[in-house]
Amino acid sequence: MTNSECILNPGLFVKGIPHEIFEHYRKNAPLFRDKDTMNADRIVWNLVRYNDVLAGLKNVQVFSIQNHNELHEQTNSFGDSHHWHPKAMSLLESPEHTIHKKRFSSIAKKVNTDAYRVVVSELANELVSNLSNRGEFDAVDDFSAILTSQIVCSYFKIPKENHEFFRRLSSVFMGDTLLNAEVGSFSVYANKCPFNINETSPARNAMDMIKNYWGDAPWLDESFVKTADRWEVEDLGLQMFSAGMAGLRNCITMGVYYLSLNWKELKDNSNLWLSNIDLITEEIIRLTTPLMRIRRVLSSDIEMYGQEMKKDDHVFLWLASANTDPTVFQNPLEFVPFRSPNPHLSFSSGIHSCLGFSLARMEVEEVLKSIIINWKKLELVDSPVRFKSSVVNEISSMKIKIGA
Ligand code: HEM
Repeated sequence: MTNSECILNPGLFVKGIPHEIFEHYRKNAPLFRDKDTMNADRIVWNLVRYNDVLAGLKNVQVFSIQNHNELHEQTNSFGDSHHWHPKAMSLLESPEHTIHKKRFSSIAKKVNTDAYRVVVSELANELVSNLSNRGEFDAVDDFSAILTSQIVCSYFKIPKENHEFFRRLSSVFMGDTLLNAEVGSFSVYANKCPFNINETSPARNAMDMIKNYWGDAPWLDESFVKTADRWEVEDLGLQMFSAGMAGLRNCITMGVYYLSLNWKELKDNSNLWLSNIDLITEEIIRLTTPLMRIRRVLSSDIEMYGQEMKKDDHVFLWLASANTDPTVFQNPLEFVPFRSPNPHLSFSSGIHSCLGFSLARMEVEEVLKSIIINWKKLELVDSPVRFKSSVVNEISSMKIKIGA
């Protein structure tokens, strides 16, 4: 395989998830090697079949999350910062994983999600209504990017005047260029870690700020707020401002996309669509797969498909490929609004699965509901434009037209 054909090559993802390539690998080479784009000397393994990806996620003894993100490692690639936010991101790795997951678990409680649902619904209704006479606009810049920053910032009660700053911070965390993001001296171009070891890091200060704002938010457990140390605040903030904001933004943009393709059928049967909004949301999250692959490090040797993978080898578990595996999903590339069951892996699975899943689902549901109720017409003007990445399924713009 030449480098340009390498599945990790971001260029392959410009037109969307390269389903035909995954189909080829699922059929002919379900375990294959590739060059790590972040470290050309390292060969990584790739698993693409649903059952293998799921088995890898569940088998945390061998497919270890510990130190799975090489950005934790000592490296000079971030210029003046030697560690990538050294402590916060490792809280949820073993051996502290269970303690911290328990401490963070209030995020997923239904009572807390429901308390926040009211806020999300109000924010969504306000922006959706404001745009309803706008005619043509960009579904990312003018809608999903704004709405998600309002949603996530409101979670921490961050005042409106600071939303733009946190939106940029989120883009820096994700390493994306949606906003040509710059925060202080940190930019996505400068290749610097926004969480340097220096106490004056703007990202670190911002995470400290969160604690001043969130105060008595009813959706945050008071006991957690009172006892959270700075690393826990940083970790929660990081998750919310990275996956929480970008994942949500991309699910909402793709939600608009799939609703637009089914607009007539949806408007003719809006009660049916509204009463199945949970299934529709799930299907959008499956097809979007905001985080397309996750990295694991092997803690011991293991043989699969006649190949020897060695301890310390890195493995990519391709959620994007698992989510469209025809052995699990009938017509996997089709948007089937009421698909059920829908055992997609967009939030991962097993003990490390996403803690924000119920929050993310609720947020997407509320935004879709608001669109279905308030917009009379929804048409795609241009196809979605993608950000060049083989990690995140990021839509950077998508022109739409709405109106009477
Ligand atoms: C659509 C939005 C989101 C998607 C697609 C998403 C996806 C994921 C995935 C795939 C993982 C597993 C990573 C791995 O196994 O290495 C994960 C972990 C995690 N996510 Fe999310 N996430 C989203 C939103 C959120 C939100 C809103 C939060 C809120 C705090 C959150 C908190 C977390 C945490 C704390 C973990 C680590 C769990 C652990 O290690 O045990 N996520 N997420």
